[in-house]
Amino acid sequence: LPDDDDEDNSTTIHWHGLRVPNAMDGVSLVQDPIEPGETFEYEYVIPDPGTHWYHPHIRTNVQVERGLHGGMVIHESNGVEVDRDRLFMLDDIDLQPNGALAPFDLDEGIGLDATWGRLGNLMLVNGISVREEPITDLVISGGVERWRLVNNANARTMYIEINGAQWRLIARDGTLIQEPQTLERLQIAAGQRVDLEVLPGESEVDLQIFTRNKEQEGEVFEEIHAFEGVPDRPQEPGEWKEWDPPTFIDMEDASQGVSLLFDGEETSNGNSMEWTINGEMWDAANDLEVLEAGTPSTITVTNDSDYVHPFHMHGNFFQVISIDGEPPDYSARYDTVMVDPQSEIKLYTDFVNPGKWMAHCHILEHAALGMMTAFNVQESKR
Ligand code: C2O
Ligand code: CU
Repeated sequence: LPDDDDEDNSTTIHWHGLRVPNAMDGVSLVQDPIEPGETFEYEYVIPDPGTHWYHPHIRTNVQVERGLHGGMVIHESNGVEVDRDRLFMLDDIDLQPNGALAPFDLDEGIGLDATWGRLGNLMLVNGISVREEPITDLVISGGVERWRLVNNANARTMYIEINGAQWRLIARDGTLIQEPQTLERLQIAAGQRVDLEVLPGESEVDLQIFTRNKEQEGEVFEEIHAFEGVPDRPQEPGEWKEWDPPTFIDMEDASQGVSLLFDGEETSNGNSMEWTINGEMWDAANDLEVLEAGTPSTITVTNDSDYVHPFHMHGNFFQVISIDGEPPDYSARYDTVMVDPQSEIKLYTDFVNPGKWMAHCHILEHAALGMMTAFNVQESKR
């Protein structure tokens, strides 16, 4: 990073979705920021396969918007062979008319980044602007493709559809789901990843992103053609693969639990927002909630605000027990899950990985304005 007097350009790297040892997690609870010119070596044994990504974890909203992030694809050992494996990083950045990044002020008046998070005006797929024209490539007609999508936008919720080919959801946040799901449209919250199985046939395959802008109400979506796949030598579609998901833990009766109330209110001067968990903005000096590792646990997230909050937890995965009291449609393991306005989600984890783990909203401006906490998961004494 440049050594710039006007700016704090120290950084860290967080490995989003990898259950790394706590000391390698790249957050300020476990390491000092890496100053410009300094080197820090992250070293760990990759714990899990899947589609993941990495990004800084200090001044995250600024550094991610400026481009410090990348995707990570870790193949399953004895994985299923596909004919083509593609990674799509979905992003948006906010530019001024002169092409410079819009300022990052979070206290410049309500209604801007502080409320919705920073919604960009340039849609990027793998760093390429796709608003005018999609990325084009040949697809393997009659074959099986695996498409991995990462939403690495600061705040924007993406919805995707694929036209011109059969497709189904096979993994969430890097883990294969128990039963592949055929869907019409799929939501990808900021921070989440999905893996899709796609069977290109004789027609062009079209990956579309649907997204809503802050001035748009209700179900008004902008439609963006992100990727156009041209069949290489048009033939009948191939067959679905057999995927082998990991065994999901049985959700036992939990013997410990945490409840997190997500809320926000305008600052007293009306220029910004305070985003809170259980009434408090993040402060590294606060006491951390102590939990026991390897123990059936629930995490209940209640969203008392009128905004969405993708809840992300470091170091451990979770499963969804219920959303507003209803069980989910299918079993999956997540590290990031959408919590809709005025809704409550109950999660299950066994905290296999001890350490001090951050848990926060993945709308990076909400996290920067306080919506962040951490758990101190301690080795079991039993
Ligand atoms: Cu991808 Cu704590 O974040
Ligand atoms: Cu949020």
